[in-house]
Amino acid sequence: MKLLVTGAAGFIGSSFVRLSIAQGHEVLVLDALTYAGNLANLDAIKDAPRYRFVKGDIRDGKLAEELLRSFKPDALVHFAAESHVDRSIMDASPFVSTNVGGTQVLLDAVRRAGTQTRFLQISTDEVYGSADDGKPFTEQHPLKPSSPYAASKTSADLFVLAYQHTFAMDALITRCSNNYGPYQFPEKLIPLFTTNLFEGRKVPVYGDGMQIRDWIHCDDHSRGVLSALDKGKSGQVYNLGGGNRLANIEITRLLLKLTGRGEEFIEHVKDRPGHDRAYLIDHSKATRELGWTPQVSFEQGLADTVAWYRDNRAWWEAVKSGAYRDYYAKQYGNR
Ligand code: NAD
Ligand code: DAU
Repeated sequence: MKLLVTGAAGFIGSSFVRLSIAQGHEVLVLDALTYAGNLANLDAIKDAPRYRFVKGDIRDGKLAEELLRSFKPDALVHFAAESHVDRSIMDASPFVSTNVGGTQVLLDAVRRAGTQTRFLQISTDEVYGSADDGKPFTEQHPLKPSSPYAASKTSADLFVLAYQHTFAMDALITRCSNNYGPYQFPEKLIPLFTTNLFEGRKVPVYGDGMQIRDWIHCDDHSRGVLSALDKGKSGQVYNLGGGNRLANIEITRLLLKLTGRGEEFIEHVKDRPGHDRAYLIDHSKATRELGWTPQVSFEQGLADTVAWYRDNRAWWEAVKSGAYRDYYAKQYGNR
């Protein structure tokens, strides 16, 4: 397949591109290189003949249309987003602009270009809100986003479904649970805590740490996205999840063990405002209709991930210090 992939200099998009190139697909990446974009995440495939990178913003409809007309992708896989809940609580504007506006701009670009391009929206289990009744979310669960981030992703999903319905576009959605793995920006729980522990710093557990998340390795997510591109039906939503439901405090204790640190490194801090207590996802539709199941065991995946951060200290030190921004400034200038 020829794939136009947005946001692939980030965490999950880069996993998806590494996998797609390994499977023989041709990939054109469109990424604005915001604070979360890091070209080092794509180093492994940067010289692959079937890979090309364009620095650009998804809100630039003219650029998107030009890329669609010239590349004629079979699919546009839309990862690009503002992705961090805490940032959306501090300032929701970039979330509305990129996650909602950017998605609508891309949908229009696909329509205008008139190419036979399937649109796959990468969404999240957060659109369903908090599973306070302990029941896993199916695709029929009402949409009840709690945070500004989740509200922006929900709005984007509704635009995708509305465009699919109104303009008979070939478009579909995957909604995944919490990802972990290499190259995750160290503002998210697992890489922040792991790197803090390596640095001998405490880890800030929000509130009582009893909030539950369902963890999935990013490579399992990427395999799910490829299955949805291949077998998914237009207008449909597919939940993806790892089936690894753990409270934050349990993850924290596993990370302490894997990094050889003690309980004194835990610091309970003020809770996140509006903090969702639980995300539980039912991915049986994806298993049934796409033939997809997660493959990475959480125990092995987490141990490998911690080992990756141990072995790739230069990567996260450059991110934490901000030096990673020079890496692409040298290649693209300070545009
Ligand atoms: P990330 O923050 O690591 O990466 C986001 C990427 O998007 C960056 O490379 C950034 O430069 C790019 N980007 C941001 N705004 C842009 C714009 N206006 N134009 C072009 N590029 C832009 O994100 P991630 O954690 O890899 O998440 C990727 C996608 O998956 C997001 O849509 C997110 O909502 C979704 N998702 C994430 C998780 C998770 O656990 N991280 C789970 C489910 C779904
Ligand atoms: O569920 C999918 C979502 O998972 C994605 O859509 C988001 O893009 C992604 O960021 C993630 O959202 P979360 O808010 O669940 O992830 P985060 O890593 O920020 O936090 C995980 C849990 O850990 C959450 O309950 C908040 C808590 N936490 C987080 C941080 C950063 C802490 O206790 N301390 C922290 O310092």
